[in-house]
Amino acid sequence: MATGLKYYFGIDFGTTNSATVGYVVMDQKPEAVKYGDEEGRPIPSVVAIDKTTGAVFTGRDAWDKKMELSESCEYISSVKTILDSEQIKTIAGREWTAVDVASEVFKYLKANVHNRTGIDMEEATVAIPVGFSASKRAKLREAAKKAGIHISSFISEPTAAFFANYNELKSSSVVAIFDWGGGTLDVSILQHVNGKVSELATVGRGIAGDYIDDKIAKRIHAKIARKKGVEKAFADMPSSAQDMMRVRAERAKRMLGDDDTATISINNYGVYGACRETLEYDWFADIVDPEVTMAMDCLEEAIRQSGVGLANIDRIVMVGGSSNLRPLLEKMNDKYGDKLFFPEETMWNVGQGAAMLAMTPGGYYANQSIGIVLSDNAYYEILKPDTPIRGWEHTCHFGIVDSSKEARFVFGGSPDIEAAPERYKTLTIPAYRFLQEQIILNASVDQNMVFIAIAGSNMRPAEFRRLWEYTQLKCYYKLPGKQVQHGE
Ligand SMILES: Nc1ncnc2c1ncn2[C@@H]1O[C@H](COP(=O)(O)OP(=O)(O)OP(=O)(O)O)[C@@H](O)[C@H]1O
Ligand SMILES: [Mg+2]
Repeated sequence: MATGLKYYFGIDFGTTNSATVGYVVMDQKPEAVKYGDEEGRPIPSVVAIDKTTGAVFTGRDAWDKKMELSESCEYISSVKTILDSEQIKTIAGREWTAVDVASEVFKYLKANVHNRTGIDMEEATVAIPVGFSASKRAKLREAAKKAGIHISSFISEPTAAFFANYNELKSSSVVAIFDWGGGTLDVSILQHVNGKVSELATVGRGIAGDYIDDKIAKRIHAKIARKKGVEKAFADMPSSAQDMMRVRAERAKRMLGDDDTATISINNYGVYGACRETLEYDWFADIVDPEVTMAMDCLEEAIRQSGVGLANIDRIVMVGGSSNLRPLLEKMNDKYGDKLFFPEETMWNVGQGAAMLAMTPGGYYANQSIGIVLSDNAYYEILKPDTPIRGWEHTCHFGIVDSSKEARFVFGGSPDIEAAPERYKTLTIPAYRFLQEQIILNASVDQNMVFIAIAGSNMRPAEFRRLWEYTQLKCYYKLPGKQVQHGE
């Protein structure tokens, strides 16, 4: 690595595509570098494993050779969706977990950076969808680690998209981020005041590009079956033929963004042999109408939940590949017109925002309180709002007052904890009830932003300690030194 240069990496580990962006800082001047494929596009998050030799193909290579390899290889796409599944696949005598597959994607991203610049990406900030579960965060961290990448911090995808467009958005105080990708639709309403970015509302759906491709593939299949007069369900076609059809459907979907017709052909489509179909834009728009309506509703729902009202939303930022769907754009334009904002190179936005954060580490702060509701109903606060959560730890001591052989802690502090069933918010610790006995409670926020409380009696061994975890900790991100005035 050259001296005097500093590198900061951000990764958008997407369901369909993964984007690595690096900031190279020389003489305090940062320059963004996008690590894409030969044509400058993000890397497909797909892994193909040869069923006989066990050879692994990843990235654009695996994507482009999909036709060729679909017979000989096991194709695993959209691994992000199944990250916390415990399922193990045995391929060519080797056992593969979802983490192993995801780590192949990370390895490819790391090798790609190395091939292009000779730099070893040892550390990165990684963007994750809103509501990405604690177990998925842990698995993602594990997958990156296996590939030799330490995840220094997670950032939520919409917040990253916001930072990537900071120059255009800094004077807006409330912004909706509409991110429709391959696996998920994530809508977030962000409030931005003096460099403090908090999520007012987030709504997500698991219906996105992959789902649409599958739907179109089935409809093309039905067209072919009708024309050829041979009835065979799409699901009964060989899986390689299904894959082939999905690839054609995806291509046609993109073509119909610009053209009024798209023609697809497959030379060897199972029992149907050679097939060729011309698809009309109106036919297509009809098929995706329910998904487009779902996406529009999702945005409306997020705006409603934020409580700020449409009039106070300054911009609606359209990111993610599926935001290019023409039927969606038409409806969005009719409804929101001037508020819409289309960033340049949206495929790189999330990765770039993550890299910006890697370079300017501000920090996450608690946007809520967590504490214990004591037996007299008083509230004992453990984590206060506005506390920086990186490395945060706190220990408290409690005496035992009642006469039972156990101590009970009931957590509270935010409406979602309070609304949870009793057993989810209660921590029961075995105790002796001795006079000198104390319950020691260690609270911390781990690197995956999970709040953890471990409590136990000072007179009992460690195995009698008990754990309470809270994975929905609400945080906001604060940039260092950004003091932004309205109307700036
Ligand atoms: N011009 C286009 N019109 C319609 N869809 C498109 C277009 N270009 C790309 N897409 C779709 O966008 C999806 C990929 O988008 P993106 O790269 O934002 O997803 P991702 O980040 O991998 O997924 P996620 O954010 O859900 O994890 C694919 O389903 C692709 O077919
Ligand atoms: Mg994405």
